[in-house]
Amino acid sequence: MTTTTPKRQIHIFDTTLRDGEQAPGASMSPEQKIVIARQLARLGVDIIEPGFAISSPGEFQAIQQISRELQGTEICGFARCVPIDIDAAVQATQDAARRRLHLFISSSQIHLDFQLRKTQDQVIEMVRSMVAYGKRFVNELEFSPMDASRATEEFLFRVVETAIEEGATIINLPDTMGYALPEEFGPMFTRVRNGVRGGDKVVYSTHCHNDLGLAVANSLAAIRHGVTQVEVSVNGVGERAGNCSLEELVMAIQTRGESMGVTTNIATDQIYETSRMVSRAMHFPIAYNKPIVGRNAFQHESGIHQDGLLKNRNTYEIMDPEAMGIPRSMIILGKHSGRHAIKHRVSEFGIQLGDDEMEDLYNRFKAKADEQKIITDDVLMQLVGESTDSIVQ
Ligand code: KIV
Ligand code: ZN
Repeated sequence: MTTTTPKRQIHIFDTTLRDGEQAPGASMSPEQKIVIARQLARLGVDIIEPGFAISSPGEFQAIQQISRELQGTEICGFARCVPIDIDAAVQATQDAARRRLHLFISSSQIHLDFQLRKTQDQVIEMVRSMVAYGKRFVNELEFSPMDASRATEEFLFRVVETAIEEGATIINLPDTMGYALPEEFGPMFTRVRNGVRGGDKVVYSTHCHNDLGLAVANSLAAIRHGVTQVEVSVNGVGERAGNCSLEELVMAIQTRGESMGVTTNIATDQIYETSRMVSRAMHFPIAYNKPIVGRNAFQHESGIHQDGLLKNRNTYEIMDPEAMGIPRSMIILGKHSGRHAIKHRVSEFGIQLGDDEMEDLYNRFKAKADEQKIITDDVLMQLVGESTDSIVQ
């Protein structure tokens, strides 16, 4: 009898509506946030961080409504280590069926010196008192030492140990500045788990920014080191170069997760719709070459690729776009296209060309494609008409 090892579940924590919305120019109305939160629930994310309750009355109301409505999804309130933030986050998420509180404070020396202007001992005291305060209201408390990847190991251990002592149940280690390399970031989780008192009793999470384009790679490295929650945003929106992209991480797990023994709860057929909705609401266009959801992600122009694709999709596609709700894989006709692709497209219009007609069309097509980037179906049909006419004469 063969036994299969059960896959480790990676919980997807979506911060599109909190960190994602912190991207310059991305802010949305409370109504838009509620509509996106509903779509995130359809997408199957495990936890939604709907905003920063203290930041404005509209933000507070949006979080409150999302907490009331989305009873099937865990909701996360977000707060600095100060009572006024904690009170607002706790009140806004009061009606959630399942909720957690997420507290954060800086942990790197540069942040302590210039952003917080506090000593290490003062920070430890704030962690001790504010985690204890937050625990009065919730069972699940997530704690993030901000800029963990640039903190000294000694201070990071102290901060995390203090949070665990006071009742933190989830430790989220962020690469706040997108500075880490995968080979150093992943092992940090193992060292914290083994080096901190109580480190083996908590759940580990990661939160990566994309300043060096490494957010997905760093998140995967953290997963390899035992992390079971990954914080992501739709289209990778967020501060500066953004957060770890939800769709890229989920599809990396879906496509290659077998070798890592992990899986997610995401309904991948909702990915495209969610991506479009967030792009529209934030007025953020999606780069043509963005993995998974970009316009060109499943379009093929080169003749060699088109030929291979027409013989077997797997030659040049490692994922099925339809499984992500993307209308269909498209062959784009242009100057790199070959005879096979042109003939195939023409045949889709029910037209069968003889060898001479096809050769004539091919030559006209190449001349036209030098003039314009893409040969649309209308232009193609015009060329077909000219070719058949010239052969008949
Ligand atoms: O980037 C970051 O460090 C954060 C934390 C507050 C989780 O967004
Ligand atoms: Zn962040």
